[in-house]
Amino acid sequence: MSAIDAEHSAHITELVREQYERFPYPDLDPGEMPKGWVTTSIMPLMCPLVWGGRRTADDAMHILDAGCGTGGPSAQLALMSPRSKVVGIDLSQASLARSRARKERLGLDNLEYHRLSLLDVGELGMTFDYIVTTGVLHHMPDPDEGLRALRSVLDPHGAIAIMLYGQYGRVGVYMLQRAMQLLANPDEDIDYHIDLARQAMLSAPPWFPAHIPSYGFEMQPGNKGGIVDLLLHAQDRAYTVDDIHAMLHACDMRFHRWMVPHLYDPKPHLGRDPELANSLHAMSNEHADQIGELVHGALHKHTFVAVRPEFEPPRIDIRDGRWKKLGIVKYFEYTWDPSEADPETGRLTGSPDTTEHRDRLTLSVHPWQAEFIKALSHVPTHTMDVLRSPSVRRAMPSMPGYQRDAMVEELIGALVQRGGAILVEEEHIRG
Ligand SMILES: C[S@@+](CC[C@H](N)C(=O)[O-])C[C@H]1O[C@@H](n2cnc3c(N)ncnc32)[C@H](O)[C@@H]1O
Repeated sequence: MSAIDAEHSAHITELVREQYERFPYPDLDPGEMPKGWVTTSIMPLMCPLVWGGRRTADDAMHILDAGCGTGGPSAQLALMSPRSKVVGIDLSQASLARSRARKERLGLDNLEYHRLSLLDVGELGMTFDYIVTTGVLHHMPDPDEGLRALRSVLDPHGAIAIMLYGQYGRVGVYMLQRAMQLLANPDEDIDYHIDLARQAMLSAPPWFPAHIPSYGFEMQPGNKGGIVDLLLHAQDRAYTVDDIHAMLHACDMRFHRWMVPHLYDPKPHLGRDPELANSLHAMSNEHADQIGELVHGALHKHTFVAVRPEFEPPRIDIRDGRWKKLGIVKYFEYTWDPSEADPETGRLTGSPDTTEHRDRLTLSVHPWQAEFIKALSHVPTHTMDVLRSPSVRRAMPSMPGYQRDAMVEELIGALVQRGGAILVEEEHIRG
């Protein structure tokens, strides 16, 4: 890096630090936890998702939250994996003060915080099994440098959960950010600019490509830091699927999985042509995901897991009845609308609860299959135990065993592909 680049980079980092000193993000009181658990910090889910159950939330791991902000997710990590040591680092003392206050309130002895740049993470003298970095790398002057620093402290069999902004879904945000830059008035203070940005967002015409429900938290009345984070940020860039793969390649890392894979599935947006379905099926996942992002049109963030090349992904085969030997973990809930049941087949249409309303990528199932999904647990449970649960048995019509097995296999395949369930080997079912 040239001296000028280094100076520019230090200047940007300082602007970002100042922003988060003044407006810690998210703007939560130490007494508050984030509304709903942040999925990447739910260790009983992340362990099957990353390691297929080879590691569990009961193991003693080293976990890092890099750019931990006001500390909700790091507290969740420490609560949910009590034998692990959790470390949060951030540039902003004001954010760390809230994080530390929450830690004290919750009496979490396995959690510590340090004011440290991501780039200096090596100073901790530790390696980590699991690293979370959500909403941080895209605010760095050189995000690849940040990811390389994290990789340098990642155990070869560990994983990093990353959230980066999505370029296409944030087109309107960048338009408003640019408008705010052009409207910046040096005679006015930050409150004036916050009000202006809020009004611009709220007054946007219906066709404007920034969807307010996606930014519900930032737009909450009184959440000044949310508006600054969204529309007045000192440093902010966004990624396409291709950019993410290029970034991982440049940092000698591999893509492991999306947190919500069905968002990248192009099929629901491309009609029902069987030939097209075949050609999508024949494509590499990366290629299909690129198309999925383009035809979805509004992905405003990407949350995914990346690993080092040495990492061995769990490969679990469900075919030919092998699912009978596996454990299954519920990943997200589906809600079922009985009024939308198909009058001919009786099939129900379910939507995953974790997605925003415009991501209505649905799953159509028989009522007993809906009961099967409802009966899944967030901890690994034997597949056969779920199938034998009273609610599933009550709902299941009589049918030959081979037919039931084929339908369960198909259902598990669909759930796993869409991210609704995770499978673990039998020996990893605990308790
Ligand atoms: C948008 S907030 C995200 C906070 C939290 N991770 C979350 O998901 O809610 C970004 C955080 O990254 C921190 N940050 C930005 N650049 C950093 C760097 N180079 N090193 C450490 N923290 C950094 C900021 O101080 C801020 O707290």
